[in-house]
Amino acid sequence: MLLRTTPRPVARTTEALRSAARPAVRWGLGHALPRTVMGSAARRGDLHGQLLVASSTSADAPIELFDAIRAQGPIHRSRYAYVTATLPVVREVLANPDVRAGVDLGTGAGPLGRLGTWAHRTTPMGPLTPPSLLVTEPPDHTRMRKLVTRVFSVKAVQRLRDRTEEIADDLLTSLEQQARDGRPVDLVEAYCALLPVTVIAEILGVPDSERHTVLEFGTAAAPSLDLGLSWGRFRTVERALSSFERWLVDHIEAKRRDPGDDLLSQMVAARDDDGVALTDKELIATAGLVLAAGFETTVNLLSNGIALLHEHPEQRALLAADPDRWPNAVEEVLRHDPPVLLTGRTVVRDTEIAGTRVPRGAVVTTLLAGANRDPEVFADPHRFDVTRENAADHVSFSAGRHFCLGAALARMEGQVGLQRVTERFPHLRLVPGATRRDTRILRGFHTLPAVLG
Ligand code: HEM
Repeated sequence: MLLRTTPRPVARTTEALRSAARPAVRWGLGHALPRTVMGSAARRGDLHGQLLVASSTSADAPIELFDAIRAQGPIHRSRYAYVTATLPVVREVLANPDVRAGVDLGTGAGPLGRLGTWAHRTTPMGPLTPPSLLVTEPPDHTRMRKLVTRVFSVKAVQRLRDRTEEIADDLLTSLEQQARDGRPVDLVEAYCALLPVTVIAEILGVPDSERHTVLEFGTAAAPSLDLGLSWGRFRTVERALSSFERWLVDHIEAKRRDPGDDLLSQMVAARDDDGVALTDKELIATAGLVLAAGFETTVNLLSNGIALLHEHPEQRALLAADPDRWPNAVEEVLRHDPPVLLTGRTVVRDTEIAGTRVPRGAVVTTLLAGANRDPEVFADPHRFDVTRENAADHVSFSAGRHFCLGAALARMEGQVGLQRVTERFPHLRLVPGATRRDTRILRGFHTLPAVLG
């Protein structure tokens, strides 16, 4: 008996040490090391390094760096990665079957890779952890995506329009009550954040009482897309992802016991052509991604749109004169100030991009926000112009097989959300104190104080 119990505390201590060490290794390989390496590359004049440093230290999109990178040619080879801000090349990369989604930081070959693989065994599920759609490739990607695509088709989304208008109107009525005595109200907290979370929560069948919890998880986990997080921030993000995962497991279990007619219940029951269901992990990853992507990006579209329209009263006047321009105005907001700055890819077989040979293992950064300012595609690209004829040619929803699943929904929410607030409060005025979110890949406002007028 004694012999059998003695090693247990030792085993427990070893396991406890391992559990404590894994997050530290993940942070070291995924954030501290890249931050140091890119910082030093930036100091030596490397444009990609400068871009990552600029986008992780400043809230403003580094527009001049996009132009400088594009001026180097269609695809620029920097010290650690290839990078492009040229629109047709961004599309070419995203459609290339030899280039897969995601960038492995510390899970490749060699001793560091082995250490990374060991450390990632306990990574909480997140948007960039397999089997998230964002980092899964065919055939699994095709199979998983097919099971949720139907719900987000343009036709299905049109059916949600009336309900979205109702939600927007209710939120604007409460906003009006909050601002009764002329006090400024925060449009992000009371409107831009609540509209998309309410819509996606209804689609997924999340009860009203839990929407604020979901919003908190999403906001705390949003920096998980960023590179170079501090240790404190990294731990907060991982804890938020773990809590979100636990909440999802319970929520999915509840839907299994008591299905409704919502998307999550459909996903639990869904089978592909061969009668195969999503695995539990795939179900949690897909539900979590759809839920979080469903509001963490659209909140930025709404806040960026309100800010741009406020800065450009002459564009607001064009919309007031001809409300049919609203869908195009939303495309121009998406082009000019996209909610997602960039996305990363890894080359899995030697390939050619824009006529340049790119070897297996290379990382390619596609600057979505930079491609949207490509002067070969968009005349006078830095001008905000709601009448721009080709505004919708942007790549703010990415391209190729990972093209945003929720694009039709986001466009509809953008049109309803921006048109409703502008028409209801034509004298709305932003007041000083607006702050940008401190996430770097996801870009939008944290606060947008306004008087309704
Ligand atoms: C303005 C709002 C939105 C923007 C700018 C946006 C942007 C993007 C981008 C850039 C990607 C692809 C990233 C890459 O290629 O690496 C993506 C993928 C995705 N988005 Fe959105 N998104 C928005 C709204 C939504 C909404 C409302 C949903 C809810 C259904 C959603 C769900 C997804 C999903 C599930 C993927 C993964 C698709 C895949 O990998 O196959 N998004 N989004």
